[in-house]
Order: sequence, then C-alpha cells, then structure tokens
Amino acid sequence: MESIQILDAKKHVGETVQIGAWVANKRSSGKIAFLQLRDGTAYFQGIVVKSEVGEEVFQLAKNLNQETALLVTGEIREDSRSKFGYEIGISGLEVVGESHDYPITPKEHGTDFLMDHRHLWLRSSKQHAIMQIRNEIIRATYEFFNKNGFIKIDPPILTGSAPEGTTDLFETNYFDQKAYLSQSGQLYMEAAAMAFGKVFSFGPTFRAEKSKTRRHLIEFWMIEPEMAFMHQEESLEVQEQYVAFLVQNVLDNCDYALDVLGRDREVLKKYTKLPFPRISYDDAVELLQKNGFDDIQWGDDFGSPHETFIANSFDQPVFILNYPKAIKPFYMKPHPTREDVVICADMIAPEGYGEIIGGSERAIDHEYLLEQIRAHGLDENEYSWYLDLRKYGSVPHTGFGLGLERTVTWLSGIEHVRESIPFPRLLNRIYP
Ligand code: 4AD
Ligand code: MG
Repeated sequence: MESIQILDAKKHVGETVQIGAWVANKRSSGKIAFLQLRDGTAYFQGIVVKSEVGEEVFQLAKNLNQETALLVTGEIREDSRSKFGYEIGISGLEVVGESHDYPITPKEHGTDFLMDHRHLWLRSSKQHAIMQIRNEIIRATYEFFNKNGFIKIDPPILTGSAPEGTTDLFETNYFDQKAYLSQSGQLYMEAAAMAFGKVFSFGPTFRAEKSKTRRHLIEFWMIEPEMAFMHQEESLEVQEQYVAFLVQNVLDNCDYALDVLGRDREVLKKYTKLPFPRISYDDAVELLQKNGFDDIQWGDDFGSPHETFIANSFDQPVFILNYPKAIKPFYMKPHPTREDVVICADMIAPEGYGEIIGGSERAIDHEYLLEQIRAHGLDENEYSWYLDLRKYGSVPHTGFGLGLERTVTWLSGIEHVRESIPFPRLLNRIYP
C-alpha cells in the first residue's frame, strides 16, 4: 500500500492508500464518524462507517481528540461537496501520537492568545493558506528573476554599514568590534551588480522600529534586485512586471488557498494589467491637500492614511516618484534639474496595504556620495569599499526592495502583517 500526501489525491482515486494526518475536528452519529483531517498539504474529510470497520475502530474514531496524530488507511474518493474535492473512506486507523486538551479549539480566540500559541496556530486552515501564498510568491520570485537573466546573490546578515539610516539598527558584538544586523542588502547588491550585471537577493532584514502598526515587523524578508546600466524608467517596468507576475502566479497556483481566505479573484486580476499608474511626489501632495489632508506639507513623508488615500485614487498598485531628498537615504541619485528631489519610487499597494516596494536610481558620482555620507553623519571609513564602486567603472544603476510579508498580506487579503510570516518578531514579542 502506498503512502501519499492528500494533495496528490487526484492521482489515487479508487486506490487504497495510507496517509499520516492529524485530527482537526470531528462529528459523529451512531453509525458514521466524519473526521476533519489535515496532513500538512491540505484539509480533507475521512469517513468511518461502523458497519465497515467494526465496533473497535469505530469507537476509536469517535473518541479521537483534536490534534491526535494518525496513520489512516482507506480508499480515495471524489467528493464534489467539499472545497478540496476528495475524501478518504477509512478502513483502518492507527494512533501515532496522542493529544489532550489542545489549547486552540474551533471557537474564537483573542489575538494575543493565538500569538502566544503561534507554534500551534500555524496548523489552522487560514494560516496554512497564507503560508501557501507566501511559498508561491517565493517560488515565482525565483522563476521571474531566473528567466529574466538575474543571478541570485546572498548579501551578508552581519554588516558594518547602515544603508537605511542609523536610528533602527540592531547592534551586536562582533568579537572586539560592533556589527549590525542587516537592514537591507542593497549596498552589497550594488557591488554584485557591478560584478554580475543583474542580480537579486532574498533574505531576512532587521529593523528596530518602534512602530506598532499592522504593516511593521522587526524581522522581515526582502527581495532586492539591482541592475547595472539601468535608469529609473526601466526599473519601474521590471517592478511592475514582477509584481503582476506574482499576482498571476498566485491566481494560477493557489486556488485552494484563495478559497480558504475568501480572496476575490476579480480584484486580484486587476493587478495583472500593465502599466501601473505613476504619480510624482509633488502631485501626490497636491492631491492630498485638495482632498482635505491639511496635515501634509511639501517635504513631509506620507503616513499610512496618506498612502491609503493615494492608492484608493487608483485601481492598481501605484508608483509615487521622486521624493524630497531630505527624507530619503544618502545613496539616491539627485534629480538632474532639481536640487530638492531624488530619483526614486515607492510602489503603494491598493486596498490600504501600503508601501510594498522602495527603490531608486543610485548616485554614481564619487564626490557627491562622499559628501552625502558625511552629511548623513556616517563614518566614511566604513563606506570606503562602497565608494570604491564609484572609482572603478561607475555606471548608472538602479534597484529596489520588495517586502515579502507586505506582499503576502496584500495578496492574501488579510488584516495584519503578523500572520504573513511563520514566527513574527514584533515590538515586545519574540516568543514563540
Ligand atoms: O523602502 P525600504 O526601506 O527600502 C530599502 O531598504 C532599500 N534599500 C531597498 C533597495 O532599494 N534595495 O524597504 C523596502 C520594502 C518596503 O517597501 C516594505 O515593503 C518593506 O521593505 N519593509 C517592511 N516590511 C515589514 N516590516 C517593516 N518594518 C518594513 N520596513 C520595510
Ligand atoms: Mg521605503
């Protein structure tokens, strides 16, 4: 008898198979028990009929506790009434691991309770669906960049430099020196782009941000492409193609997860249409002011109500271009004709999910960059390797960073970024 994963049920209809599974829920009458099972790949129903299995197995099935681990044996059948489409007619049951008083019951629990039990909460069908969407976004990311001529480069996690400002660094001892956990691999990816042309990274980044919002994590994963000989407009095209590709692949490959999450496919489909709208920072400020946001002046950074308003003015993700130099990092390319703005773009997701991409063209002039490093109060000795990139064949280049968890949150249509990563690190939470 073959052991299978229930996700492959289609290939085994009519066969008797064995599956390792846990009991998610159950109900029974005098003659028949319905087990809601999960084997890690999907949730499915197991049916135990007393007259077929005998009294002993039937009593065992009837009295199973939630999260008992089992080896079930039975025949795979089509089941047109369930979302999943297949069930197993159980002929044999073996308990592998008992479970008593499982803390997460089918009733409602508060978020703090669920977060304290994240190691168990991950087993629930909604969390399972979100992780499938996350996995698909990761898979499609590799596919997109591989097929577009990028090579994956892994920047270090322990670093001596701070690309995104020094206020939210995690500092640690590195023998007798100080080191920081990476906020962004960008500076290293710029070195890599000068070595390999088109590169991308995918790795964890850390920000000691004292923000307690539904968009902020302390530890999050970023995809950071960097492209040599490329200007902003071409980079925006890569960005919109990449994001549309992610949406299309989630639509194509995450049917079951989208059903579980109740995500409207028609809404997602709109995000595969290119191009995405572009609006300048200047026009965005004007749009906000005209619509009653009198708290925004030219020069201010946008908060989430502002981003949400701008996003709602369009039906797709939107690029906001060329922010004030004063609110952006030191490495961005200055505008050719305006002193006060830099060549950059943020992509804002629709439906109030906020900024999912930050990117820019990079300053390529050695003297200008050195000046900026000093003006930002950074130690130029720590950046001498970075400045080298402007000494030996400096070329126009551009790159961006997509926040994985915000993208997962958005495409899953869930409320809060904390459910988009298996074990979220939040302000005041590092357990479990
Ligand atoms: O806009 P950010 O700070 O850009 C950079 O780090 C650049 N160095 C990227 C580059 O050009 N290579 O961050 C990029 C993205 C944001 O748009 C957002 O999606 C995500 O990272 N992000 C966060 N996600 C969750 N929690 C946080 N605290 C985040 N901070 C940024
Ligand atoms: Mg940003």
